Amino acid sequence: QRRQRPVIAIDGPAGAGKSTLAAHLARRFDFLNLETGAMYRALALKAIENDLSFDEEAPLLALAEGTTITLEPQLEGNRVLLDGADVSRRVREADVTAAASKVSVHPQVRAWMVRQQRTLGAAGGVVMEGRDIGTAVFPDAEVKIFLDAAPEVRGNRRYRQTFANPSNGNSERTASPALTAEQRQAQEAILRELKERDYRDRHRAQSPLQPATDAVILDSTAMTLDEVLGRAEEIVRSHLPPL
Ligand code: DC
Repeated sequence: QRRQRPVIAIDGPAGAGKSTLAAHLARRFDFLNLETGAMYRALALKAIENDLSFDEEAPLLALAEGTTITLEPQLEGNRVLLDGADVSRRVREADVTAAASKVSVHPQVRAWMVRQQRTLGAAGGVVMEGRDIGTAVFPDAEVKIFLDAAPEVRGNRRYRQTFANPSNGNSERTASPALTAEQRQAQEAILRELKERDYRDRHRAQSPLQPATDAVILDSTAMTLDEVLGRAEEIVRSHLPPL
């Protein structure tokens, strides 16, 4: 039961630009983009709402089994429905971000997520983005890209996203203007949080964040957004029969 269309797997650490890349490739190749991180975020939100500990697997799994998480691909990113309610904005907030990383360490929670994600991508024609798509969800994906960047660069991008300054793109090579003490503190806090999350994601026992052996590693540290998108398109074209 071969799927009809290919799967493009995009993995990598937080702030590497996976969502932007996935949305771009999906538009380019007329695929659906699916942000699996949003599913972990939605479950984490429900755990917060139900006052559950992020450290206990059994109650979290039971919670997941009674939960419906829906991803609605849009031109930019996904709309996320938790039991029918639109939580797209709420799941991006800091408390949910930290909780998602904790909830996602549990093997049975991951197994539940992976089952859902395989169903979502079963027909192919998807760009699926996360941490374990190329290693666990679709180890047979036709295209695997591991998008990485130095922590400081990812932290800076997150900082600029958080304090949305539309003139700043996803990857800028020019030095930032001088920051106030408060801005610098906020930036440092974001970098600290990002490194903690990275550490948890990379060191968990089950499906830790790491490139699949057959993934193409794309390090965007010194690349502009356009360069990343162009290079990724080349990678996709070189792995797929002409579309
Ligand atoms: O991509 P994101 O920042 O929305 O992901 C939120 C958290 O979910 C992240 O800290 C790790 C976890 N995650 C995961 O373990 N596996 C995935 N495929 C996607 C996300």
